[in-house]
Amino acid sequence: MRKIEIHTVSAGGGPLLGELSVPGDKSISHRAVMLGAMAEGTTSITGFLAGEDCLSTIGIFRKLGVAIERQGTDVTVISPGISGWTTPTERLDAGNSGTTARLLLGILSGSAVTAEVTGDRYLCRRPMRRVTDPLAEMGAGFEFSGTGGTLPLTVTGHPLKAITYEMPVASAQVKSAVLFAGVSAAGTTTVREQAVSRDHTERMLTQFGGAVTIDGNSVSVEGGRPLKAAEVKVPGDISSAAFFMCAAAMVPGSSVTFRNVGLNPTRTGILDVLKEMGAAVTETVRSMGAEEPYGDVNVNAGTLQAVEIGGDLIPRLIDELPVIALLATQAEGTTVIRDAGELRVKETDRIEAVCTELRKLGAIIEPTQDGMRITGPVKLKGAVLSSNGDHRLGMMAAVASVVSEGPVGIEGAGCISVSYPGFFEHLDSLT
Ligand code: S3P
Repeated sequence: MRKIEIHTVSAGGGPLLGELSVPGDKSISHRAVMLGAMAEGTTSITGFLAGEDCLSTIGIFRKLGVAIERQGTDVTVISPGISGWTTPTERLDAGNSGTTARLLLGILSGSAVTAEVTGDRYLCRRPMRRVTDPLAEMGAGFEFSGTGGTLPLTVTGHPLKAITYEMPVASAQVKSAVLFAGVSAAGTTTVREQAVSRDHTERMLTQFGGAVTIDGNSVSVEGGRPLKAAEVKVPGDISSAAFFMCAAAMVPGSSVTFRNVGLNPTRTGILDVLKEMGAAVTETVRSMGAEEPYGDVNVNAGTLQAVEIGGDLIPRLIDELPVIALLATQAEGTTVIRDAGELRVKETDRIEAVCTELRKLGAIIEPTQDGMRITGPVKLKGAVLSSNGDHRLGMMAAVASVVSEGPVGIEGAGCISVSYPGFFEHLDSLT
């Protein structure tokens, strides 16, 4: 019989008080290793996220012949550049990480390598044609082992031609895969988005010597220009901080300061929502340059009101929607989340999973085709929730314990280490 591990949290009661430095940004950590591997020379990364997703990225580039050393959150990447990579003798396993798999497909498209790319059972259900379609148009070869457009698949790199690509979905992963392929393509590759998604790839490509131009919602990269190794400083992940920001916002008397957290405007939708709902949020920006902006954020609890969340705001807080749904259970009125159909193809179907799990606590929440409707405030009760194998669902469940009457159990809490090693220690330190 399979033993089900349940991690129980009973944090309810007092306010959350103190300071937190959350681990490094996941999106930026992946890109730092990837660009370090594409560039010739030695790239130094500080503040790297040593979570399982980013460790999958390191493991893959080692298999391509790149030397990568890691000591805690310091990483050194020593690479011969993309033209010096070797064809791997084993499958490249992206684990649970969609970012690793999709960006890797873009990078390998213009390399001289053939490789089989796979992932865990959750990742092997997620759509890959959204990246392989434009990459095939550029000239890359893909062979899926099944018919569903999912991993595992074999990619064969070829000389690529530049394209102009109109993005059908708001996805930084698709944008980044095409731009990374564009680095090796003949000509200038352009990606046009309907709403601007996180722009870490654009910023970091420039830092590594890429020729990137931005015009409104369009990003272009000039192909055939070799990248140069760089130094990358990774700020704290605002998507990780968001769990404790929402916790602080919900519990009267709370005040938590987040140190050195990323404040890239394409990621700060959570701060806009917290303010609009009635929490007191102040930011002290430490750096606002061309590289990644970061600073300190203080969140104080407030009397929360329902809000409507949709349109261009969605890509700016897509990963925060599970914990925002929890936050909305404590707000007066009905919060409506729309235009977020992408949630259905994340680590799990986050619309169905969030609704199913929060209902176990007594929440009034219903799924819609492209979002959710949540009515509050509701005094939540304790229950056992499932992470559904999804780190952000696991953390949402744990944070629910700060407002629930009884303890919250989490089945499958281990997946939290995908993005937030040390999560429970941080929860304990604040409660
Ligand atoms: C990411 C982009 C987003 C986000 C994911 C990380 C990235 O995915 O949900 O956690 O690093 O580019 P989509 O591009 O699929 O929206």
